[in-house]
Amino acid sequence: MLLAIESSCDETAAAVLSPPSSLLASEIASQAEKHRPYGGVVPELASRNHLVLLNPIISQALNSADIMIDEIQAFSATSGPGLSSSLLMGNTAAKALALARNKPFISVNHIEGHLCSPFMEMEIKPHIALIVSGGHTLIIKVNEFNDYETLGSSLDDAAGEAFDKVGKMLGLPYPGGPEVEKLANHGDPERFDFPRSMINRDNSNFSFSGLKTSVLYALKKIPNPDKQILADLCASFQIAVVEILVHKATHAALKENLNTIALSGGVACNDSLRQALKIRCQKYGVELIAVDPKYSTDNAAMIARAAAERFIRKKFTPLSEDVNPNLKI
Ligand code: KG4
Ligand code: ZN
Repeated sequence: MLLAIESSCDETAAAVLSPPSSLLASEIASQAEKHRPYGGVVPELASRNHLVLLNPIISQALNSADIMIDEIQAFSATSGPGLSSSLLMGNTAAKALALARNKPFISVNHIEGHLCSPFMEMEIKPHIALIVSGGHTLIIKVNEFNDYETLGSSLDDAAGEAFDKVGKMLGLPYPGGPEVEKLANHGDPERFDFPRSMINRDNSNFSFSGLKTSVLYALKKIPNPDKQILADLCASFQIAVVEILVHKATHAALKENLNTIALSGGVACNDSLRQALKIRCQKYGVELIAVDPKYSTDNAAMIARAAAERFIRKKFTPLSEDVNPNLKI
């Protein structure tokens, strides 16, 4: 049995999992309400809140799993990428528990956690991973667990970051992604013709900052936008992001001769993206494994799933290893 902690940004989460993939508990304390007045995550506030929330969330996970802490055979935590002061909180907690109980510690790369999240209940097979979160937009060729080749990434804003910035521009609450999707549901995606940057380049890189700026320019031309215009802006922005993501992911799968795409990360909650990718995959005979929305935004279940793969391979981490806010996959 493993206990995993996630604290890379503003979610404090703990999960218990029996390797390789039997999840017994996954608990999340979101700090979104605390950061909302500031329009984004305040690192100092996030780490202070992790400190307050960590012990209760660990107890809650153990209670939900109906096990005692003595039954835990390894302790795991996200070691990067993320906010260093936030990473340190979860990492130090997991290391302290491992040290006190003389059990191994397993550090997990947050991106690898997202990469494992569509495979919570199944074996990881060769695939193209499309990871779309607030911090990353990545296309990775996964040969097997721990054997990855990054084919491309965003050269500027991550997809979720673009959603959040557009949300902020339109005066929507933080985080903007879900709010933009809600408004887009009532909007006309053809009202504004926003650019699909880099869509026709024969690579797996992305650029979303031009698209974001186009939304800003369109908004500036309309003095008092009513609710319908805001909805149309959201729908037109969202369809541009979705088309780029869907095109690049299927392009990579066909080019690499892989017939499975796995979708993960916070933006994988977006229903338009899920539907559009499903339809395109069906068209090309590609299998789509989309993360369950409950494991798409940051959570500890995905960290536990990745830790389980490391546990099986006896890949333990020395307690002296530090967190790394810029950790790459
Ligand atoms: O994976 P995640 O929880 O955190 C990072 O690792 O960055 O992703 C959070 C991101 C935020 O940018 C949020 O706005 C976005 O995921 N997001 C969405 C939706 N739900 C969350 N973006 C678009 N549509 C959604 N429904
Ligand atoms: Zn994440």
